[in-house]
Amino acid sequence: MQSEPIRTAPPPFKIIKGHTIETETAEAAIETIHASIPDWHKNSSIVKKFLHNRETTFYWASTDGKLIGYVCLHRTGCVPYIAVAKSNSRSGVGRALMLRAAKKARKLGNQKLELTSENSANDFYRKIENEIGPVKIEIAGQYSNITYSLLPH
Ligand SMILES: CC(C)(COP(=O)(O)OP(=O)(O)OC[C@H]1O[C@@H](n2cnc3c(N)ncnc32)[C@H](O)[C@@H]1OP(=O)(O)O)[C@@H](O)C(=O)NCCC(=O)NCCS
Repeated sequence: MQSEPIRTAPPPFKIIKGHTIETETAEAAIETIHASIPDWHKNSSIVKKFLHNRETTFYWASTDGKLIGYVCLHRTGCVPYIAVAKSNSRSGVGRALMLRAAKKARKLGNQKLELTSENSANDFYRKIENEIGPVKIEIAGQYSNITYSLLPH
């Protein structure tokens, strides 16, 4: 008789607002998360600068006291960066971070949520459009401009 495969639930995580995280801890987490995604053309020093920008808000995903992902949101509804540690990818962390950013963007009065991303993540943005709002994806070479029309509250 064939046995059923054992399915384990994805690890639980929580979303934390950035101002509760110390700068040193946040900078170290950015380095660790980025190092885990070797195929992504990121710029850690630019992301770290956003930590000190009063017009941006960070949300972090945390599990077992470890920071495993972040999204950075500008008050204008632009998302300069989102990243999830490779070992925690495909467990709903990116979706939860984008939903949190979209909620805040709406609260700030934005009707759109915009970002530029490598084309490899386009299916991720399509997957979450039902929860955030209709998405337009314009491919420009290796990158895509992603624009969500945010659903009303
Ligand atoms: C893109 C990224 C943020 C997605 O985060 P994630 O935590 O893996 O995404 P989730 O687990 O929340 O995925 C949500 C859905 O999208 C799907 N998905 C995620 N990444 C995908 C991909 N690259 N291709 C196809 N589907 C993808 C998931 O399977 C899931 O589908 P489901 O609802 O059917 O289960 C993450 O892969 C990442 O950090 N990439 C490198 C950095 C990057 O490209 N940032 C964007 C530009 S700043």
